[in-house]
Amino acid sequence: MAQMMVEGSVTLNVEGAFYNPRMKLNRDLGAVVAKVLGISDYLDALAASGARGLRVAKEANVEHVALNDVSPRAVGLLEENAKRNGLEGCEILSSNANVLLHQRHFEAVDLDPFGSPSPFIAAASRSALDYLFITATDTAPLCGAHLKSGIRKYMAVPVKAEHHREMGARILLGSIARELARVDKGMHPLFTHVSDHYARVYLRIAKGAKNADKTLEDMGRLEQCRHCSRWRVVFGMACRSSGICSFCGERAEVAGPLWLGPIQDREHIIKTLAELEGSKARSDRAVRLLQLCADEIDVPMYYDHHKLCRKFKVTPGTADDLVEVLKSAGWRASRTHFSGVGIKTDAPFEVLREIVCSI
Ligand SMILES: C[S@@+](CC[C@H](N)C(=O)[O-])C[C@H]1O[C@@H](n2cnc3c(N)ncnc32)[C@H](O)[C@@H]1O
Ligand SMILES: [Zn+2]
Repeated sequence: MAQMMVEGSVTLNVEGAFYNPRMKLNRDLGAVVAKVLGISDYLDALAASGARGLRVAKEANVEHVALNDVSPRAVGLLEENAKRNGLEGCEILSSNANVLLHQRHFEAVDLDPFGSPSPFIAAASRSALDYLFITATDTAPLCGAHLKSGIRKYMAVPVKAEHHREMGARILLGSIARELARVDKGMHPLFTHVSDHYARVYLRIAKGAKNADKTLEDMGRLEQCRHCSRWRVVFGMACRSSGICSFCGERAEVAGPLWLGPIQDREHIIKTLAELEGSKARSDRAVRLLQLCADEIDVPMYYDHHKLCRKFKVTPGTADDLVEVLKSAGWRASRTHFSGVGIKTDAPFEVLREIVCSI
């Protein structure tokens, strides 16, 4: 029995394979990013019915697309769906993804697993020559809600705080940076988002030990104070945290190791936005997401505007006004896609307090 779905420019039979319609936004953006990057060789390592890889083949005009799944049912569907969409040129593979990734190199490798990508990150880091695209749906472990599971999967300690969604993205990025470094590769994040219940990262790989070393310089930890709720970042692979909050002197919790470098490449995101505007994959939500990500300032973590106002006992104005006032006072500030009430700024906490209380 066939269960047909139309998504983007493909029609798929998804009967008996995993297909999540709520991941459409993720796949819409995946196809557009692949097009913008001009990728010519792409592997959808965990392809299921082919929703992601077949869309990349069709919508991004990628010359060689390989779709792999270990499940025989999925492989049958991949063959059927490739043919149905006139994509017979796609290569259909039925390997364990980790075996395949150790056997072959691909220009771009995409991981879209059930839950955590962690079992595949090491092999994907070896296989990918230029680009690595990774989805993680285990946001509870990544963001600190399931502490032990997060530590096991990512070898990093999250701390639950107002900026937990960004913490999750940076823990994921940090674990990828460390795996890439083991094979003498560095990374440059092009576009990072946490939407619904998943994190998605798009990375350009920079080959060579020097690039790997440079990437590791952007690793570090976050000191998070429960008492005054302020935080501080500490760069470096060695843990140099005193465990004491540098603002109020109370005990600070330490999160990490995590990625503290840039997570958005504005130029790349603007190009993606332009490509999206003219494409079938366009949606208001996707446009808004890209705009927010393009405008995010490169400052790790964010404040919860409402939480700040409760703390300072003032009625919140709009987040946009707060950003504008911070900017006109000479500080860097932006909204963030991570949270509708999130504010990123490099203004010191005292300045932020003054400004929040004055508007
Ligand atoms: C979340 S689904 C992929 C969804 C798909 N990318 C999409 O957009 O609809 C994960 C897929 O990975 C496959 N899988 C799980 N472990 C695997 C492994 N070790 N090697 C290859 N495929 C695997 C499963 O059979 C399943 O079809
Ligand atoms: Zn403190």
